[in-house]
Order: sequence, then C-alpha cells, then structure tokens
Amino acid sequence: MFKNQSIAVTGASGGIGRAIAEMFIAQGAKVAISDLKSPSKTADEIGAVAFACDVSDDQAVRDFIDMAEAANGPIDIFVSNAGVGFGDPEHAAGASNENWELSWQVNVMSSVYAARAILPQMQERGSGRFVITASAAGLLAQVGSASYTATKHAAVGFAESLAIRHWDEGIKTHCICPQYVRTNMTKGMAMAEGHQDGLIEPSDVAEALKLAIEEDRFMVLSHPIVGEYFKNKAMNYEAYIGGMNKLKQKLGNDQLPT
Ligand SMILES: NC(=O)c1ccc[n+]([C@@H]2O[C@H](COP(=O)([O-])OP(=O)(O)OC[C@H]3O[C@@H](n4cnc5c(N)ncnc54)[C@H](O)[C@@H]3O)[C@@H](O)[C@H]2O)c1
Repeated sequence: MFKNQSIAVTGASGGIGRAIAEMFIAQGAKVAISDLKSPSKTADEIGAVAFACDVSDDQAVRDFIDMAEAANGPIDIFVSNAGVGFGDPEHAAGASNENWELSWQVNVMSSVYAARAILPQMQERGSGRFVITASAAGLLAQVGSASYTATKHAAVGFAESLAIRHWDEGIKTHCICPQYVRTNMTKGMAMAEGHQDGLIEPSDVAEALKLAIEEDRFMVLSHPIVGEYFKNKAMNYEAYIGGMNKLKQKLGNDQLPT
C-alpha cells in the first residue's frame, strides 16, 4: 500500500525516525528524511534523500516539505517525529524557560507548522496521512520531566484535533505513544533500561505504525499495556497520582531524567 508513496520524516538521523523511514522504504516508498544536521549518512545507508531542517523554525519546515516534494512528489505521509526532552532539576518547575520553550517548539509547534503547510493540498486531493510521534508521556506522565509531559500531552491534543477535523475528508492522523525505546534519547537512562515493561526496539515502533496505518487506526500503542494504564488513569485519577508518586519515590532522585 506504500509503493511509490512520497513520505517525509523529521528527526530521522537515527532512532525511531530512521526505523520508520526504513520500514516505508522496505514497502517501496520514496522517503525524504531530515534532522537538525542533514542526515546524509543515514540517507545513503537506507536509500532516502536527506535535508537539514530545524523543526522549531516554521520556514525551515516549509522548505523541507518543498524539497521533499521536489525530490519525491506531493507528500502522501508526513511523519512529525523530532522530539526533545529535559529533566527537572530540584522540582517540577525546575527546567529553564529555554528548555520549556524548546520543548514547546520541537514537540508541538513543529507539527503545527508542518500541518499548516501540508493540509491545504491534502484537502484538495482528499487524501493524506499525518503521523505524530508523541509518547506514552502524552497519555500518562514522564516522572521527573514536566516539560516533556506537558508538551507531549499537547502533541496528543493536536493529533486528536487533526483527526477529528479531517478524518472524514480522507486525511488520517496517527498518534504514536511508546513507552521506552532503545534510542539515543534513552541511552544511559537507568529508569528506561530497567523498566518493568521493557525497552523495545525502534523497528517495533515502526511495525506498530505500519499496522495502524493498514487498519486506519489513530492510536499507535507499541506497548499495548499503555492502553491499560490509560484506561485505569481515566477510571481512578487518585490511584494514578498515588501510584506515580510511589514510582517517583522508588526511583529516587538519582534515576530521574537530567
Ligand atoms: N526513545 C523513547 O523511549 C521514546 C519514547 C516515546 C516517545 N519518543 C519520541 O520519539 C521521537 C524520536 O525520538 P528517539 O527516541 O528516536 O530519539 P533520537 O534522539 O534518536 O531522535 C530524536 C531526533 O530529533 C532530532 N531533533 C531534536 N531537535 C530537533 C530540531 N529542532 N529539529 C530537527 N530535529 C530535531 C534529534 O537530532 C534526533 O535525531 C521523539 O519525538 C521522542 O520524544 C521516544
């Protein structure tokens, strides 16, 4: 179903973005990847075209879309995958304004910029897909990172808004909400490496996305248990807060993100 489709992926020099690009290429798609610095080495390895794109810059996102379309034709699937995370030194409001602002730009506004640039033509065609790599932290929380938790909740909220507004027009949105995945983001992170639900591979996330697209499903849970946690949270918020607080105590300050 992806043969010859034009696909663009941000934040794809490695990790989940690279795995998603590889999955689409294996299905016969033409893929453009981008990252802060042009991921040309990755592109050569997997058979994509590469561009530099700082997704916190509205114009740079537009330029990436233009360049991807010049290379591969009108974009069928845009994957807004780039993300950043910062810990909270000392207390929940402890991250700097700069880190909060960057989290908002990269984890939320980058998808708004891309959607604004690409939706008009998808509306005209009556087809297209928009994928947002949010996180389980957008449904639950990342202990020790309020800026990640808040902006990933916003990313899920924006994905829901896209789906609700455009699904009937033939434009499908898919929202990926993984727990811990073995990438640069989790390297050396004790709470990820020792997590009870396991550290999955980026290719597992890509496969979960493929299945969700084939089934026209909005929510992509590469860790199905997250659906259970989310249901329990909705049913009993007090138990959720209490349980997460216990988890924080168990982890101790040493294991919280820095
Ligand atoms: N690894 C996990 O456990 C996990 C879990 C849930 C969600 N996620 C999300 O998955 C996505 C991919 O992360 P990953 O785990 O593959 O880690 P990663 O560090 O390999 O990938 C993130 C990429 O985003 C890029 N990036 C950061 N700021 C950027 C900017 N301003 N412009 C362009 N690119 C920028 C980085 O250079 C990096 O290549 C992120 O959105 C992340 O929040 C990761």
